[in-house]
Amino acid sequence: MSDSTIRWESDADGVVTLTLDDPSSSANTMNDAYVRSMAETIDRLERERETIRGVVVTSAKKTFFAGGNLGSLVQATPDTKDAVLAQVTLVKGQLRRLETLGVPVAAAINGAALGGGLEIALACHHRVVLDDTRIRLGLPEVTLGLLPGGGGVVRTVRLLGLTTALLELLLQGQQLRPSKAMELGLVHELAADRDELVAKARAWVLAHPDAAQPWDTSGYKVPGGTPSSPSLASTLPAFPANLTKQLKGAPYPAPYAILSAAVESLQVDVDTAFTVEGRYFVDLVAGQISTNMIQALWFDLNAVNGGASRPTGPEKYAASKVGVLGAGMMGAGIAHAFAKVGVEVVLKDVSTEAARKGKAHVEGLVGKQVSRGRMSQETADAFLARITPTGDAADLAGCDVVVEAVFEDQALKHRVLSEAEANAAPDALLASNTSTLPITGLAEGVQRPDDVVGMHFFSPVDKMPLVELIVGERSSDEALARAYDVVRQIGKTPIVVSDSRGFFTSRVFGTFVLEGAALLAEGLAPMSIERAALQAGFPAGPLTLLDEVTLTLPLTINEEAAKAGATQEHPGIAVLRALVDQGRTGKSAGQGFFDWQPEKRVWSGLPEVFPTRNPDDGAAVPFADAQERLLFVMAVETARSVEEQVLRSVEDANIGSIMGIGFPPLYGGVLQYVDQYEGGVAGFVARADELADRYGERFRPPAILLERAVPAGSLRAAVSG
Ligand code: NAI
Repeated sequence: MSDSTIRWESDADGVVTLTLDDPSSSANTMNDAYVRSMAETIDRLERERETIRGVVVTSAKKTFFAGGNLGSLVQATPDTKDAVLAQVTLVKGQLRRLETLGVPVAAAINGAALGGGLEIALACHHRVVLDDTRIRLGLPEVTLGLLPGGGGVVRTVRLLGLTTALLELLLQGQQLRPSKAMELGLVHELAADRDELVAKARAWVLAHPDAAQPWDTSGYKVPGGTPSSPSLASTLPAFPANLTKQLKGAPYPAPYAILSAAVESLQVDVDTAFTVEGRYFVDLVAGQISTNMIQALWFDLNAVNGGASRPTGPEKYAASKVGVLGAGMMGAGIAHAFAKVGVEVVLKDVSTEAARKGKAHVEGLVGKQVSRGRMSQETADAFLARITPTGDAADLAGCDVVVEAVFEDQALKHRVLSEAEANAAPDALLASNTSTLPITGLAEGVQRPDDVVGMHFFSPVDKMPLVELIVGERSSDEALARAYDVVRQIGKTPIVVSDSRGFFTSRVFGTFVLEGAALLAEGLAPMSIERAALQAGFPAGPLTLLDEVTLTLPLTINEEAAKAGATQEHPGIAVLRALVDQGRTGKSAGQGFFDWQPEKRVWSGLPEVFPTRNPDDGAAVPFADAQERLLFVMAVETARSVEEQVLRSVEDANIGSIMGIGFPPLYGGVLQYVDQYEGGVAGFVARADELADRYGERFRPPAILLERAVPAGSLRAAVSG
């Protein structure tokens, strides 16, 4: 068994320790070698059962076990369903043999056990886990459009009860710390260190010779009952409705499949339940949505975070002292992000008093963590001590990175950047959080334009995981690499784009919200517009978002575009003007498309300004067209950005669209949406042309799409290939 992924060691007491340790990889996954090794291991356990008093399963890797083999799952199609089913049935059968071996089995969980890793542990009779707050346990399959197909649904609903398993683990794929997993009943014991971990697992198996799984024990009652017990039966009908509400109508198949598998699994015996779970799993794996989600949220995200867009030459860099200019909403958020990872921050505003206001915002965020028990007072004090508020630029001395977040005004930004350049370390990176001003122009205000890059954060900074890095004409590879490393240092995801109007995210976000406004002018009811977006999978509707960013922002951007020579005005612009003319500028004014006080409601005067057309009226926009227009307009604009080389990679486009501007993850991001459209790129192009003929030239597919509209053509291959 030299290439085995499972090491076998037996001791004088008759305890066999199985150590998961794939020799070909830094993490254990459910690859072919695992399946083969497990088969050999289970055969041997069964052969030698009489001499074995117990089994301890542990791992030699940093994580316990990483989970399913996503490389093969992402390739599953309806044609390969049978093979996938055979494989998952085999994996599950092995785990079933382990738990029914007739000897006690304990898992000694030394690191993260997510997905398949937790499923292996669930097939053990007892789980001990290292009490390390960095460790996570959970079944996050749903976040990739899948369900736990290795027995995870069947075992957790039996162990924890249907409602708890669904709400605390399965439907949202929560990743739990050891203490929380213990509280939930998912694990049985915590251990302080590795030695104690294995010792506790060993002691348990020796003390429990008759161990069996609860579901194999006669008289076992599932907590909360089964669907046939009246109390549970009466609440069940509300489950699907609640789920739809929670998903805001977005068509994610996995949560529904998980719900069905969980409920059905409790109505049959455990072995039949595994079969039920397997069928639902295979349907999801073979479907397009899991392919999209695995591609984007695993492969594309890993590529982006792994440095695919980072220049390879410069050495890895870490900031030690950061100057943040402007202690407003964004500056405070940026200061928080750096202080959080231990970096000293000088927070500079027009006066120390103004800077203190920014720091107070950070104090609020940190205070919340303390009051929720997520941070000790000591850590919080040290956290806040790292932020020095000041009104004096001389305090920027020694800063090796400067991020400016003052008002959106080129002359002001020139001034503060040049002042920072004069005071900070002589080679400090000079980054701007501008959302619209060209970086090349900002770099003209300093002596070292090569060191200037755009570092565009999203609001609220503490929640939004994306940063858009903008490369100006003069930005050096060294500066870009530093900016990239600094963003990774604060745990965020950097995409890289070229300097141009609206960069990538603001430009494409703009097309989405303006499309919503255009739909209103064409007679679609406001709530239908919002619903079209939500049911397509966007987190919020375009009219709500317009109110939130304020209606004057797109108007200003439009004016600047017109000054720069843009001739075509978007039909949504006239809608915004009509509202702004009446003082309805958005949420901050308390009124926009919605009245925001006392609670959010569509403005009752809106139908007078933009009458709604009856759906039976041939001129009205069909709901399905409205939905596709929102998706298509973003995809077409992104394709143009690729053509203009604003975007440099498909991965950056997909991740930037999902993590920055709310493109529905179920489509795997804005360019994956094109590739996965029915009929591929050709199908997308045909539909885009239809939309352009009917609704306007903004939908007309650009050349880069036409070139790929051939059999088996894909945008991914065009850009990355
Ligand atoms: P804000 O108005 O909340 O904060 C700006 C801060 O800059 C104020 O505290 C002001 O006192 C300070 N300031 C003005 N002159 C200064 C000077 N000479 N030295 C130091 N500080 C000075 O603005 P917000 O929303 O934080 O935006 C800041 C920048 O971030 C802008 O460029 C904006 O376009 C950009 N941005 C904003 C986003 C948002 O959602 N609000 C998102 C992404 C970027």
